Amino acid sequence: MYTEELKATAKAMVAPGKGILAADESYGTANKRFQKLGIPTTEEMRRAYREMLFTASGIGNFFSGVILFDETIRQSTKDGVPFTKVLMDAGIIPGIKLDAGAKPLAKSPNEVVTEGLDGLRDRIKEYYDMGARFAKWRAVITIGDGIPSRRCIEVNAHALARYAALCQEGGLVPIVEPEVLMDGDHTLERSYEVHQETLKTVFYELHRQGIDLDQMILKPSMVIPGENSPNQVSAEEVARATVKCLLDCVPASVPGCAFLSGGQSDEDATAHLNAMNQLFKGQLPWHLTFSYGRALQQAAMQTWGGRDENVAAAQKALYHRAKCNSAAALGEYSRDMEAIAV
Ligand code: 13P
Repeated sequence: MYTEELKATAKAMVAPGKGILAADESYGTANKRFQKLGIPTTEEMRRAYREMLFTASGIGNFFSGVILFDETIRQSTKDGVPFTKVLMDAGIIPGIKLDAGAKPLAKSPNEVVTEGLDGLRDRIKEYYDMGARFAKWRAVITIGDGIPSRRCIEVNAHALARYAALCQEGGLVPIVEPEVLMDGDHTLERSYEVHQETLKTVFYELHRQGIDLDQMILKPSMVIPGENSPNQVSAEEVARATVKCLLDCVPASVPGCAFLSGGQSDEDATAHLNAMNQLFKGQLPWHLTFSYGRALQQAAMQTWGGRDENVAAAQKALYHRAKCNSAAALGEYSRDMEAIAV
């Protein structure tokens, strides 16, 4: 029923030089980040913070979409303009996080499964009516001793596919996000293996649930060594391993892959994306872009620090990262851009 609309939205989400701002931190995650910076963890501060992000001038040049959390999609600027309107006026598509978070997987103490399928059809309708046109669901796969288990990968892939089917039925483009964590000391090769098994399983389940692949976006993690691994690798190696894995697992009809940053430094996340687009320019079936949370926001949040007088400087910091990542989505970023005054 929504076929043409879904195709057009998915294509717009990964338009050349554009990516997605993930600003859908749940209460817990947002508050944890605020606490670290001494920002009060109130609803008003979360609102003010999101207002600072969404009203930054010029971000519509770099962001095709913004992912919102349930609390945020219902909020407005201090002058009473709904955030969804602020974004749409800037040419940015509002999206919504639909998952209810990762919970312990029964009988496997070190693994998690993402919940949120109950009542999802009704929630999708409500968010569509509020202006959302795409959604996100994040599954988490942990690498460790004897994990991930096959069962963990399967239950998470199954939930992702059921969520994606409900989204397409209800007019939202599903962002399918199977995140393989970079926590741990595993090698690049181990990361590759786990990404490969995860992505192959996810696309098998998407097929089983009848997902139209041209009406979704994949949000993968990058193939990267664990953050505590003594064997760190160059941006070029990350780019080559990640693209090889995606080519092996992701059908050509998917319009784009929008990466999460997953705890990489701001500059690494940008440099890795740039290396992929530079090395493989014109050779890939899908667009490769960003859907970063931390790697777009952390400089801005730190600069803001909960104070009105810092809003302009924080918006500059967000603009700068958005601009660098937009260049990376085109393979046109260089580290020199970081030195240029914003
Ligand atoms: P990070 O870029 O901080 O990993 O967040 C992206 C995201 O949306 C996680 O679900």
